[in-house]
Amino acid sequence: MDRFVIKGGARLKGEVKINGAKNSALPIMAAALLADGPSTLTDVPDLVDIQAMCDLLGDLGAAVSRNDDGTMTVNVTDESLCHAEYDRVRKMRASICVLGPLLAKRGKARVAMPGGCAIGSRPVNLHLRGLRALGADIELDGGDIVATAKRLRGAEIFLGGPFGSTVLGTANVMMAATLAEGTTTIESAACEPEIQDLANYLNAMGAKITGASTPRLTIEGVKSLSGTAHRVIPDRIEAGTFMVAAALTNGDLTLQNVRLDHMLAVVDKLREIGVTVEKANGGAAVSSTRRLEPTDVTTQPYPGFPTDLQAQLLTLLCLADGNSAITEKIFPDRFMHVAELLRMGADIRKEGPTAIVTGVKRLIGAPVMASDLRASAALVLAGLVARGTTTIRRVYHIDRGYERIEMKLQALGADIERDSED
Ligand code: EPU
Repeated sequence: MDRFVIKGGARLKGEVKINGAKNSALPIMAAALLADGPSTLTDVPDLVDIQAMCDLLGDLGAAVSRNDDGTMTVNVTDESLCHAEYDRVRKMRASICVLGPLLAKRGKARVAMPGGCAIGSRPVNLHLRGLRALGADIELDGGDIVATAKRLRGAEIFLGGPFGSTVLGTANVMMAATLAEGTTTIESAACEPEIQDLANYLNAMGAKITGASTPRLTIEGVKSLSGTAHRVIPDRIEAGTFMVAAALTNGDLTLQNVRLDHMLAVVDKLREIGVTVEKANGGAAVSSTRRLEPTDVTTQPYPGFPTDLQAQLLTLLCLADGNSAITEKIFPDRFMHVAELLRMGADIRKEGPTAIVTGVKRLIGAPVMASDLRASAALVLAGLVARGTTTIRRVYHIDRGYERIEMKLQALGADIERDSED
């Protein structure tokens, strides 16, 4: 297993290109199963999770080819294969988004029920409720979700859950509804830019979806969809992570391939903390003098502050001048990074789904353990600014969602190396 060794203290400076969004690319790849004919996707990031989805699509009868420039072609050659096995699904929860496409296109799907993960229990009841409303028969057999339907029928579906909308649940039901007979309305749909990106791809394939990026989606079913070309939107979470890196290191970064209009809550919060974020040369310029003001943040579905940047923001607030509170409203248990940050000298107190952070003068390098994707990013950020050396074990978590992060950081002046834990 690999680890990162980081010597903190370098000021990050320079230009960094943000990749296409993992959380857009994954459902879009699954949606390619709906098409007759090949789709060509561009700006697909080179990540462990993307490779896992390629392997899964291969299991399901699709030929997938990838180039080093982020171009991918997906072409279904065998529609008889419908089983997403547990071994695949347990490694990547987003495997669940093949459920809707398989059911709609092939009339049957057998997809292992995802278990919990480091950020919480993560049920899929809303996905199943939506698909049942479209007329699917769904049962659980040997840990697999077995779904069948001759032809799905449009329906009015409320998809809100105890924590608000569901991103992949909306994706699954929207994808299934594209080939249903009649019109589907999804109320309390997720409004994330990744859902809009998926809807744009589906519409380019011939689907009839309106209302994407609003809580009410309308999908008029069509008989068939054809493969098409699509460029994946920039990763707002990777961009936010580099913004925090600039803020922490008193840095000066220019981010290319960034959509600030997808990041209003993040940019607003960073500005409140004292970080300068401006549009520049088609990208964003981020700098900070590292006088950080404390703040209160609550994670929310889009357009609110994203849960996928909560851990990184928490690291930033560890060095703010006073007390901050971060409340996690999407995944209340998503605080595995707190115990590791405490090992680095942070002052954080947990009260239910809230972390109370008292700013300290400095973090101190220490051996720490990555527990999930965004928690690992938070620890890398802490390592960049800590005094001394930080070693982060289990960095395979970060490889799931950040393309060669250590190389990007090295190019900006960071002292970070990857080596083997053994
Ligand atoms: N929920 C239910 N029932 C369901 C589905 C969700 O109760 O059937 C709950 C969840 O437990 C959670 C809330 O609804 O409390 C929102 O979960 P959501 O379904 O939106 O999460 P997801 O679609 O499984 C995606 C991202 C996550 C991101 C969340 C929230 C992908 C591949 N994953 O997950 O990304 O945190 O939306 O924005 O798009 C990450 O990239 O690190 C990551 C975890």
